Amino acid sequence: MERRKADHIEICATADVEHRERSTLLEEFVFLHDSLPELNADDIRTDTVCAGKRLSAPLVITGMTGGTDRAADINRRLAAAAQKHGLAFGLGSQRAMLRDSDAAASYIVRDVAPDILLLGNIGAVQARDMTTSALADLVGAVEADALCVHLNPAQELIQPNGDRDFRGCLDAIGRLCDELPVPVIAKETGAGMSRTVLARLRGAGVRHVDVSGAGGTTWTGVETLRSSGPQQETGKALWSWGIPTAPCVGWAVDAGFHTIASGGIRDGHDVARAIGLGADLVGAALPWLRAVIDGGDAAVDVVAESMVETLRAVMLLTGSSDLAALRRAPRVIGPELSRWLQQS
Ligand SMILES: Cc1cc2nc3c(=O)[nH]c(=O)nc-3n(C[C@H](O)[C@H](O)[C@H](O)COP(=O)(O)O)c2cc1C
Repeated sequence: MERRKADHIEICATADVEHRERSTLLEEFVFLHDSLPELNADDIRTDTVCAGKRLSAPLVITGMTGGTDRAADINRRLAAAAQKHGLAFGLGSQRAMLRDSDAAASYIVRDVAPDILLLGNIGAVQARDMTTSALADLVGAVEADALCVHLNPAQELIQPNGDRDFRGCLDAIGRLCDELPVPVIAKETGAGMSRTVLARLRGAGVRHVDVSGAGGTTWTGVETLRSSGPQQETGKALWSWGIPTAPCVGWAVDAGFHTIASGGIRDGHDVARAIGLGADLVGAALPWLRAVIDGGDAAVDVVAESMVETLRAVMLLTGSSDLAALRRAPRVIGPELSRWLQQS
């Protein structure tokens, strides 16, 4: 498993792992420009509160890694950046902690990020097979504020020796919502959530989702680059599998979820559009990974500052003094996104 996580970092840092035929459809969300904003850019408030933690901007560095020395360095640098810029940060799957106590150290970030909204992470299949108290220990060991339970059946089917039996995951998530002492976030990994899946999650008692839709990193794609034979052919055929991010965000907000929008979020304009669709927080993975690997802490600072400054610019140019105003700002929705949003 350590090998697999190391491969994921290397492949995502160096190869073309993004969707080719599918976009997030956020480009179909166009804010109406306001030539007379009557605002001072310095007074615009991008801050928000989530799970009792104040964030300077509604941004999450979503879960990527853990379990190796390189992963430890990435986690600690990104968590420290989250602390510096007032963002939320997600750990990668904590599965490695279950098998190897040495690996646990690679998830410890609270000493460099004492105040951040910190999200733990485990796969739905592992969660199904674990007791609630074992999962509570996993959360407690890293001092996380919430647990992301990730859904990744598309990835698993293309991954060499991946899981093939996904029965019982919904019940397990429902059990955790009832029994865990921290909030549970049902999180996709780049293939999005349909209205039906969202309704089933809601029925199971889930209140928080990270829809992680298609348009950015494709995990059928990443595993295609690691697999061979018939599995690789299936991966190539399903490279662009998934529901674009923008409609998933609209559906999750309609269904009353506390919503994290992610999957293909690449700049502050994407962040603003996702907030315009009603998201509470907006997440990204790949841009942060590439920044920390290619340029270290300084490059991570550039990503954080440019995302927030672009968000602030869009807020000024739509006359929005805070995030609530941005959610109401006038917009035009293009035909393709309208069609998806109307899908039942
Ligand atoms: C190197 C890497 C490793 C990842 N590992 C995990 C993981 O362990 N758990 C998880 O929930 N998501 C994981 N993800 C998925 C991301 O959190 C995110 O949902 C997905 O990559 C789409 O966002 P993006 O287009 O901004 O990359 C990983 C992403 C990357 C790039």
